Amino acid sequence: MRPLNITVVGATGAVGSLFLKLLGDSTLPLASVNVCASQSSVGKTVQFRGKTLKIQLADELAFRDSDVAFISVDASVSKEIAPLAIAQGAVVLDDSSAFRMNSDVPLVVPEVNAEDLNGIHKIIAIPNCVTVPLVMALHPLHKENPIKRVIVDTYQSVSGSGKKAMDGLISETAAVLEDRLIDPLVYPHRIGFNVIPHVENFLDNGYSHEENKIIHETKKIMHSPEIYISATCVRVPVMIGHCESVHVQFNDPITPDRARELLESFQGIRVVDDLELLQYPTAVMASGSDDVLVGRIRQDISVENGLVLWLAIDNLRKGAATNALQIINCLVEKNLIGKEST
Ligand SMILES: NC(=O)c1ccc[n+]([C@@H]2O[C@H](COP(=O)([O-])OP(=O)(O)OC[C@H]3O[C@@H](n4cnc5c(N)ncnc54)[C@H](OP(=O)(O)O)[C@@H]3O)[C@@H](O)[C@H]2O)c1
Repeated sequence: MRPLNITVVGATGAVGSLFLKLLGDSTLPLASVNVCASQSSVGKTVQFRGKTLKIQLADELAFRDSDVAFISVDASVSKEIAPLAIAQGAVVLDDSSAFRMNSDVPLVVPEVNAEDLNGIHKIIAIPNCVTVPLVMALHPLHKENPIKRVIVDTYQSVSGSGKKAMDGLISETAAVLEDRLIDPLVYPHRIGFNVIPHVENFLDNGYSHEENKIIHETKKIMHSPEIYISATCVRVPVMIGHCESVHVQFNDPITPDRARELLESFQGIRVVDDLELLQYPTAVMASGSDDVLVGRIRQDISVENGLVLWLAIDNLRKGAATNALQIINCLVEKNLIGKEST
């Protein structure tokens, strides 16, 4: 392959800055890397493979000659910027919810549905950071024993809302410890020393937008619209690392031992499940890891053919930046980008 030209939009953000670091640490041959953010960051610099890169505006010029545009900004901003990148011939790898449910946009977790990268795509979407661990854990089980129903409750860290929320958790926690009264900085309620059953806006049916995303993205990625899924998404005062409690009902009986075997042999999953040694996934354990951690695997005593699982993931890594880099590697392997010109 020839070295790639990559433009990163949102390069100062929680995901974008980590993506740049992972890209720099990777062995991917690169010809150029452009870094973009909002107007307020233009002129600031970031380090990349020992070089200093200047932040620029995400305009047409930023995408000239780009093979890939990794865009990690709010969905509304993505909708404006993605067409500029496409017009310059770049494949857009979008981290927001803007295009995920479009029928012509693959929504990809490479271990689960790399086969959906099957041609020249203008836009490829990266799933929500709570969808990724869910499909990673469900897919190897579903292949052996079809899943009928899933109930998932999430415990989501503040980094899932970006860098402002990370700063907000620190300020609010300090304020509470110092007995100072401050208004909530990012969420409708204080997150410091609190738990909030509200991630993104609420829809008419009482579910939140985030809950709706998990339900529909999971069905799309697994090509399984028939699975019944319900979700409750909760924000917790943790910096990095999302956890999920997952109740799964299968068509046929399945033992926790068989589920452990299937999960252990699935690329990208690490089973951490030893109650005697008090070993189970935690947000802190997941933070900094590219694996999806699975534990507390047990029979669900309340239904037929049911299992209960506990998941943890670094939402910024496998939930976003690592998954994006894996997709780029898939595109290279499938010769869909970086083709030598003939
Ligand atoms: N955080 C996660 O765990 C996670 C996981 C999966 C998906 N996502 C999705 O990834 C996206 C980014 O999330 P994040 O957590 O990284 O947010 P973030 O920390 O708030 O970063 C947002 C980035 O967008 C840039 N930006 C804002 N307006 C822009 C504009 N008009 N043009 C160009 N860049 C602009 C910001 O630049 P400035 O610094 O100049 O403001 C910043 O670099 C969101 O769609 C989010 O839903 C996040």
